[in-house]
Amino acid sequence: MSDIIDLEKLFHRSKDRIKDLGEVFTPELYVEDMLNLLAKDKRGLWSHEEISFFEPCSGHGNIVLPVYKRRLEGMYKKAVAQGLSGKSADAPYYAVANALNTLWAIDIDSKNVENCRSRVLSATLEFLKTKLDITSDLVLLSQKRGFFAHVLSAIKWHIDENETLSALSTPENAKASANLTNAGSKWFSQNGH
Ligand SMILES: C[S@@+](CC[C@H](N)C(=O)[O-])C[C@H]1O[C@@H](n2cnc3c(N)ncnc32)[C@H](O)[C@@H]1O
Repeated sequence: MSDIIDLEKLFHRSKDRIKDLGEVFTPELYVEDMLNLLAKDKRGLWSHEEISFFEPCSGHGNIVLPVYKRRLEGMYKKAVAQGLSGKSADAPYYAVANALNTLWAIDIDSKNVENCRSRVLSATLEFLKTKLDITSDLVLLSQKRGFFAHVLSAIKWHIDENETLSALSTPENAKASANLTNAGSKWFSQNGH
């Protein structure tokens, strides 16, 4: 599945996009450092089902992906420790369901949203194949079709095209807030609040 995404093409920054969207993605090393700092003060951060993560300007997911991967591993370890394992191999599915349910991300750019969704889907399939010792996507998908229908819906719903500044305003002053961003005015007239 990961072969389908051309990672080179994900780095499609241009001068115009940097100017209009502030599109400079955070390198993985910095993200990992930030997440280590975050976890220092909060034990069990990655496995806590009642903590949600929201990325307000997700780009193609350079922060979303490391958070999601840590959540998958954290939830999985917790589930195994609580005895949710064995033949039914429930722990990996439990981890995906909970990590996805608590992950939210928006970006104003539809291509970034599409790429972020694809990367989250790839990470999900890779995680499940590794934990379940399955090599083929098709075999994995055919084993639990209903579950994967939910996974696709959750990814589509939780990672969405939206505008952060106007989303933080009331409907009355949303347009004015959106107009404060370079891309906001155009986006607002096309998409509303
Ligand atoms: C500096 S990049 C950061 C991307 C990601 N957070 C990272 O660290 O790699 C900024 C992102 O914000 C998006 N963006 C710009 N203005 C926005 C707005 N008003 N609402 C939501 N997203 C916006 C751009 O499309 C771009 O993907």
